Amino acid sequence: MEDLSPKKSDLEAIEIASIDEIRSVQLDRMRKTLHHAYTNSPFYKAKFDAVGVYPDDLKDLSDLSKFPFTVKQDLRDNYPFGMFAVPQDQLARVHASSGTTGKPTVVGYTKNDIDMWSDVVARSLRASGVRKGDIAHVAYGYGLFTGGLGAHYGAEKLGCTVIPVSGGMTERQVTLIQDFKPRAIMVTPSYLLSILDEFHTQGIDPRETSLAVGIFGAEPWTNAMRQEIEHQFDMHAVDIYGLSEVIGPGVANECVETKDGLHIWEDHFYPEIIDPETGEVLPDGSEGELVFTSLTKEAFPIIRYRTRDLTRLLPGTARSMRRMEKVTGRSDDMIILRGVNVFPTQIEEQILKCAGLAAHFQIELNKENRMDSMTVHVEALSQANNDEAKASSAKELSHHIKSAVGVSTKIIVANPGGIARSQGKAVRVVDNRNK
Ligand code: DLL
Repeated sequence: MEDLSPKKSDLEAIEIASIDEIRSVQLDRMRKTLHHAYTNSPFYKAKFDAVGVYPDDLKDLSDLSKFPFTVKQDLRDNYPFGMFAVPQDQLARVHASSGTTGKPTVVGYTKNDIDMWSDVVARSLRASGVRKGDIAHVAYGYGLFTGGLGAHYGAEKLGCTVIPVSGGMTERQVTLIQDFKPRAIMVTPSYLLSILDEFHTQGIDPRETSLAVGIFGAEPWTNAMRQEIEHQFDMHAVDIYGLSEVIGPGVANECVETKDGLHIWEDHFYPEIIDPETGEVLPDGSEGELVFTSLTKEAFPIIRYRTRDLTRLLPGTARSMRRMEKVTGRSDDMIILRGVNVFPTQIEEQILKCAGLAAHFQIELNKENRMDSMTVHVEALSQANNDEAKASSAKELSHHIKSAVGVSTKIIVANPGGIARSQGKAVRVVDNRNK
């Protein structure tokens, strides 16, 4: 693979600033954000008043822990515009996420917010090895979801030629990659696998395409999946993280030269790791729930938002800002099976060890005789799609899961194409236990 490391001279000064400089920028911006939220958002005023904490109580970054958390339910309770800190006519755009139950959660952006967001996505793309002038194929969904438009504005800001394909119409994705010859693709890892299948169906070798780098996010994926994608496409695969409540994609991104976790763009988003049970702030290096405070947002400042994502904070490497380890999963996605905690990413890792299996999978949970049971539905690769090979793959996978994860599972190996494909975020768990 080509060396795509950016030149030092192309980086923004803040990306390689000293830790002291970064902390000082953060403190100044955090004070302003707390004042802005308290003064202009009745939601935050009520929340701070209720516990008797005020913006001026922040003398130091660590004082942030005195302020209350914000959770997804707060957005639902204030649907649609109740948390905004600017009048509606100052809003340049809103996005929303559908959520599994009830009303969507709505977030808003001023013109300045959109500019800042475009800047952090442009920075993320540069870190991924994308350059001004590159053609970028954006297959994240366009619309209320932040993926498509977020990636789009960032790629334009960097100076790319953007192909706004959005998700779906997989045959056309392949045609456009063949004809327009993009160097970069932005898509969920699970949808990339559908595109991979389509390359094979059309008899085209994906290693021969123009693609040099893929920027994958919006759902958890493993280092084993990175190896698989890099091998199948002969391109770099880097991780991009974000969430609508904080801005959208571009909160953190891996650097192509190190691929060692995601640098958080800490000049705009201040991270904390907390114990999900007690809410206590944990020291860097400890695993826990990621919490973000925005430092520069106008329309929708967010104070101590509990993401539910589990990870650790690590010191900077390729950039000065801290890294977050690849997200293992959301606490919401954690399966507790007869007392053992299981994340879908752990199953993905084991599937990728089996030579006869493709990485399309879904986990089904049932209750049998009052005991929880887990079935993994996974697909055979076409070269291993006969009864004997399938039985042996099932046995192999069940053994790997038992020894690495510690749970017994039933494995059902489907024919190629037998598992429902995602065009965006994959649905990894179907829970029938309370039906
Ligand atoms: O998924 C924003 C995004 C779009 C990020 C495109 C990256 C690329 P939401 O729909 O609000 O926003 O979902 C946010 O998705 O809390 C994580 O649980 C998960 N997530 C996002 N990126 C990653 C990642 C977008 N790189 C939720 N790894 C987050 C693991 C991720 N999980």
